[in-house]
Amino acid sequence: MDTMEKLYCRIFQGAFRMALPVLPYREPELLNRVDAIPPVLREKGVGRVLLVTDKGVRRAGLTRPLENALKAAGIGCAVYDGVEANPTIRNVGEAAALYCKSHAKGLIAFGGGSAMDCAKVTGARIACPKKPVYKMKGILKIRRKLPLLIAVPTTAGTGSETTLAAVITDSGTKHKYPINDFVLIPDYAVLDYRVTLGLPKQMTATTGMDALTHAVEAYIGRSTTRQTRRLCEEAVAIIYGFLKRSYDNGSDKAARAMMLRAAYCAGAAFSRSYVGYVHAVAHSLGGRYGVPHGLANAVILPYFLEEYGEHCERRLARLAKAAGMVPKEMPKRKAAAVFLQWVRDMNRYMGIPEYIHEIQEEDIPAMARHAAAEGNPLYPVPVLMNAEELSFMYEKIREKRDMNEN
Ligand SMILES: NC(=O)c1ccc[n+]([C@@H]2O[C@H](COP(=O)([O-])OP(=O)(O)OC[C@H]3O[C@@H](n4cnc5c(N)ncnc54)[C@H](O)[C@@H]3O)[C@@H](O)[C@H]2O)c1
Ligand SMILES: [Fe+2]
Repeated sequence: MDTMEKLYCRIFQGAFRMALPVLPYREPELLNRVDAIPPVLREKGVGRVLLVTDKGVRRAGLTRPLENALKAAGIGCAVYDGVEANPTIRNVGEAAALYCKSHAKGLIAFGGGSAMDCAKVTGARIACPKKPVYKMKGILKIRRKLPLLIAVPTTAGTGSETTLAAVITDSGTKHKYPINDFVLIPDYAVLDYRVTLGLPKQMTATTGMDALTHAVEAYIGRSTTRQTRRLCEEAVAIIYGFLKRSYDNGSDKAARAMMLRAAYCAGAAFSRSYVGYVHAVAHSLGGRYGVPHGLANAVILPYFLEEYGEHCERRLARLAKAAGMVPKEMPKRKAAAVFLQWVRDMNRYMGIPEYIHEIQEEDIPAMARHAAAEGNPLYPVPVLMNAEELSFMYEKIREKRDMNEN
């Protein structure tokens, strides 16, 4: 990236950093049990809701207790369970149509990031019926209050229950992009470990690494605050202590509860301090090939940490020390190396590959352009890269494949 472009990006990021104290961030109100939802709806005078979920979550029976409790409380509930992983504009359209048809007055998002993001943008469509989803792409394009939104995460990863983001895929163009607006922050987040107990091993692994990527990208970026650094340190310390435990034994209630907390902290941090190119590249792979978000992040994270090198060393060392991974007196270069090795070891232990085998050479320029457009000028990454430099990163991730295959 040339000097003028770099200057522009840094000035843009600086302006947002300075505005941070006056921006209308808020935290959702926290509930720790799903059965606390009907009383909240009654208190708010909401007599009908749309439950937004996916078939996997519904088939696993996770929504049944809530559906029964709503019925018992006399609250009408229509269910949209058509959300796909990497939710699409079509999913949003269908959910919004059902919301209107069923005369719902509030939304309950029940599932992983896909269900929560679909519900958020459904709410945005209800608030702005004349604005198509693609016009909401970017920052602050909604600016109208959504209907009541309660988010129940069933994975411990995205933090969407507290973030101002929703990531949507246009299946026609295979473009996946974030929509960022304060109005997308849910009103309530229900952190109930019980709904995560049956999360399959592989999903536990990849969604946990997504939460880690949020914390790491926010922490090594240039727009942190004391509050977001503390949140990232807490998230990483929990993930260091509990991700392996919840991977090894999904029924470990304490570990599941702690991972929900980690995902929440990391989400609250990156909502204010942003993610980085790992996410921009992961979104391009989700849009183009449907690569699951957490898996893409887990694979890509070590590549970028290595590439940033000394530019993220000090921060990585601090994270390693805050998590209790290394002694406080360890020199920063060594501590950062321990951190990076831990990320690689976690991936290996949980069966996450070292490369993304879906990447096709001919798709790289378009994906790199999308990643650059998402990341620049917004993400305050340690080292700025343009589309050409990002192409090189995609090549690197492919290179491993070639080396492994030979
Ligand atoms: N809005 C944000 O701030 C934000 C942040 C990061 C990622 N995201 C987005 O979130 C999406 C990914 O979300 P995700 O990783 O949580 O996965 P997901 O929501 O796509 O769910 C993946 C699969 O897991 C299943 N599943 C979920 N919970 C389960 C449970 N408890 N038991 C059994 N199966 C369960 C689902 O049925 C689904 O098949 C991506 O689109 C990503 O871009 C959003
Ligand atoms: Fe993410």
